Amino acid sequence: MSFKDLTTQNILRHNPYIPGKQPTNFEQTLKLNTNENPYPPSPEISKSILGQIDSLARYPNSSADSLRSTIAKLHNVNYEQVIVGNGSDDILNLCVRCFSDHSKSIGMLEPSYSLYEVLGSLQGAKVQKFAFTDTKFEINPEVISQSDTNLFFLTSPHAPTGRIYNNSIFSSIINQFSGILVIDEAYADFAPFNALSILNESDRVIITRTLSKSYSLAGLRVGYALASPQIISILNKAREVYNVDRLAQYIAEIALKDRGYFEKTKKNIISTREKTYQIFTDWNWETYQSGANFLFTRPMDSTGLFGEAIAHNLFNFLNDNNVLIRYFPKNPLTSSYLRISIGKQEEMDMLIDLISKWKIKDQQL
Ligand SMILES: Cc1ncc(COP(=O)(O)O)c(C=O)c1O
Repeated sequence: MSFKDLTTQNILRHNPYIPGKQPTNFEQTLKLNTNENPYPPSPEISKSILGQIDSLARYPNSSADSLRSTIAKLHNVNYEQVIVGNGSDDILNLCVRCFSDHSKSIGMLEPSYSLYEVLGSLQGAKVQKFAFTDTKFEINPEVISQSDTNLFFLTSPHAPTGRIYNNSIFSSIINQFSGILVIDEAYADFAPFNALSILNESDRVIITRTLSKSYSLAGLRVGYALASPQIISILNKAREVYNVDRLAQYIAEIALKDRGYFEKTKKNIISTREKTYQIFTDWNWETYQSGANFLFTRPMDSTGLFGEAIAHNLFNFLNDNNVLIRYFPKNPLTSSYLRISIGKQEEMDMLIDLISKWKIKDQQL
């Protein structure tokens, strides 16, 4: 028997998610490829974390009671409306486990977060991808509400563009759609508004959030969902009992409670994002107004040309200079653009200097 014979057809056909590059030499790399937070997490964490080591001999609280209460309080919802995961990816996985299978299909917009499709493939569910109505990434609510899908994933702010959507779009979808609507708000803390009020409009809406971006805790793996108590109890059935470890629960709570630090780093990132946006638009680089901690921009060479070759060229140039960003060549809507995470102001200054060198180099070619 070969391993091929031993492995399920589903896994043999499956293409796993490919994460952005994680270098080991952080010091020599400017890492702007996975939308992490450039600032360290709350300084309150290191003050008490060592005292928690002895308690690691014990299993964690399996339903993360204390952390859930903190999250519920933060968003002014009931404890029964919160579930915590090992990153929001864990929560997205639970949504797929509970609300899709061979007869209940998944819907998503293309391009958006590619993990939705990967999770659907693992579940053996059909994944239907719908196109945006135009290059502005507008959403047509009717396309979603009339789709034959049971579980629909929307990303807001959208990835990879960062653009935000008015809540009226979500309202009109959920009024007509009979399935479960997931609004993935991984980046919502950097946006001027969010979709939390939609939770009051339907018991079939799930909003997912993460501590990976706005709380500088990508390495900790904590995310959560807010939804109706009925949905949360269904998701809980599929949840691994100890999905969030003891230290993660402890640290996440400290970070969530340190509102002052959260607001400070968030403000810095938004200010740096807007300054960088201004520079790109001054260069006439088409750039999406972003409600996230990244920018999606279309580079232009010194002769005014843009397109796939130019984007690829700048991506390679930055990569050769140890600056990591993200390039999505497969979709015509994204292949002329680059996604750049917002670092500290001095890091973005370095990036802008380097791009200016690329522009000069390009002139000499
Ligand atoms: C749109 C979107 N959703 C979810 C995630 C996953 O975040 P987490 O680190 O909480 O698993 C990401 C990560 O990049 C993302 O871009």
